[in-house]
Amino acid sequence: MVSQSQASVPSHVCIIMDGNGRWAKKRFMPRTFGHRKGVETTRLAVEFFARAGVSHLTLFAFSSENWNRPAEEVGSLMELFMQSLQQYTDELNAKQIRIRFIGDRGSFSTDLQRQIGQTETETAANQAMTLNIAANYGGHWDIVNAVRALAQKVRDGVVEPADIDDRLFARQLSLGDSPDPDLFIRTGGEHRISNFLLWQLAYTEFYFCDTLWPDFSESEMSAALAEYSRRQRRYGKTGEQVEVPG
Ligand code: FPP
Repeated sequence: MVSQSQASVPSHVCIIMDGNGRWAKKRFMPRTFGHRKGVETTRLAVEFFARAGVSHLTLFAFSSENWNRPAEEVGSLMELFMQSLQQYTDELNAKQIRIRFIGDRGSFSTDLQRQIGQTETETAANQAMTLNIAANYGGHWDIVNAVRALAQKVRDGVVEPADIDDRLFARQLSLGDSPDPDLFIRTGGEHRISNFLLWQLAYTEFYFCDTLWPDFSESEMSAALAEYSRRQRRYGKTGEQVEVPG
């Protein structure tokens, strides 16, 4: 019995990379040590999923709520983003990976905003994979922005309220030009979506594991893809309908 999803590779994978702090704490090290190790896993994951044929990878790097962490940790995360962008842009180009940031970048330092813009521009033509980094991102923020954009269009007379449907709405969101995520992965043992891509996750397959992000290895990434390939995506239909389309 072969269902539609068997042996298929997801087009879009999104990940909540959780567990850096606990990984460091277990080693009696500061949390920032865990984030630095987390960047190495991030690099591995980008390479792995690109090689696997995933065309869109979206990583939750910093939520709107993460500003509430101790100032020292926030500062060192900002520094890590900056360093990573400076360090990995050439590598992204060599691998034909386009990087884009989603989220409210206006709260970042001018230098970081400039670096983000520069890296986006320098990788814009790459076609092997799109890497979306969600930074100062929140699902509520995204939805509210989309509502505001549509309200403006209605006011400008470009859109009629009756024309607003789920497809038009989705196009106003940060990832409006991308397919919705097929597979959501969260490491670190928590079973929640933490205000990530709320609208876009409507029919996404969820994969949770206890492994802390710095320990998330290639074999665990493979296990997530293997689990995905065993899922049957029904979109509200019955199993029989999906197995025999029509
Ligand atoms: C969650 O672990 C992780 C973060 C808030 C930061 C994630 C950032 C990285 C892995 C760096 C990515 C870098 C780039 C360039 C995209 P946590 O601190 O919440 O861990 P805990 O749950 O164990 O406390």
